[in-house]
Amino acid sequence: MRRGLRFIVIVIIITIIPLGSVKLFATLGKTDEQEAFVPNLEELGDEEMDQVDDEVKMYKYTTENLNLRTGPGTDEGIILTVPKGERVEVISHDNGWDKLIYNNTIGYSSEEYLSNVDIKDISENDDNVNKDKDELEVIVSPETMKMKIVKGILLVNKEYALSMDYNPGEDPEAREYLDKMIAACNDETGKNLTAFSRYRTYEYQKGLFNQYVKKDGYDNAVLYSAKPRHSEHETGLAFDIGGNDQTYWLEESFEDTEEGIWLRENAHRFGFILRYPKGKTDITGYIYEPWHFRYIGIEHASNIFERDITLEEYLLGE
Ligand code: DAL
Ligand code: ZN
Repeated sequence: MRRGLRFIVIVIIITIIPLGSVKLFATLGKTDEQEAFVPNLEELGDEEMDQVDDEVKMYKYTTENLNLRTGPGTDEGIILTVPKGERVEVISHDNGWDKLIYNNTIGYSSEEYLSNVDIKDISENDDNVNKDKDELEVIVSPETMKMKIVKGILLVNKEYALSMDYNPGEDPEAREYLDKMIAACNDETGKNLTAFSRYRTYEYQKGLFNQYVKKDGYDNAVLYSAKPRHSEHETGLAFDIGGNDQTYWLEESFEDTEEGIWLRENAHRFGFILRYPKGKTDITGYIYEPWHFRYIGIEHASNIFERDITLEEYLLGE
């Protein structure tokens, strides 16, 4: 990182640590537990310093065009206007005013027009996704692109992508309910389930998609593999599940195995839906995948199961 920013970070940390204040860290979105990990700066080299920098960074998003001012007050001069929907780095907070960095410029803004959440309909940015070309390199959304969330559920499909800075890892709640589901299947049928494909990074999904395009051609690959930033596996909320017999993994015939039948009939009890059902390709955009399960919570999953509809129909209207 640049020296100037690093200096600011050091100044913040040096100011905070002697105060022993949890307050400022709390406003920076950090917990007391995380604060306890702030290391002794004197012992750090350049590489470690970059890690410290990552630990204290906090970003917000502008909800309106926002004036960046020379000080914390509406009487202060305007340095520049940050457009709506931009990401800014928050370096401190005081009495309703945030001190920010935007485009290498430091200034103050009222917290009123800043949000921790980066949510917006992305359809206006859809041109960024290279839909029609038979190319291996997929152009994805810019970092500032917002994601589609309806009824508190993150919708990821061919139309709605994940923003480039959304890399959450495996979701702990989804993992907890996956484990409960595996245990229940074993109790009820004596069969073992395995989640053989789980969280995927952007790079991994990109490699996977490109590999499938090489193998089967673009037109076939897009029917069963999501482009990078368009896969539910990149949310940490989706799992590809199979039984002990690996010959059924990723095969449609998994639907007729005892494990496949049990999953189809019981996954909703644990908050999962069979995401790409049979005969719904025109809605989901993907062929039938009796192995791909998406966690959305028990209430929503049960609702979808009982109504026998897709996530698209549930969230966007039938
Ligand atoms: N197979 C699903 C669509 C994915 O790649 O996420
Ligand atoms: Zn899958």
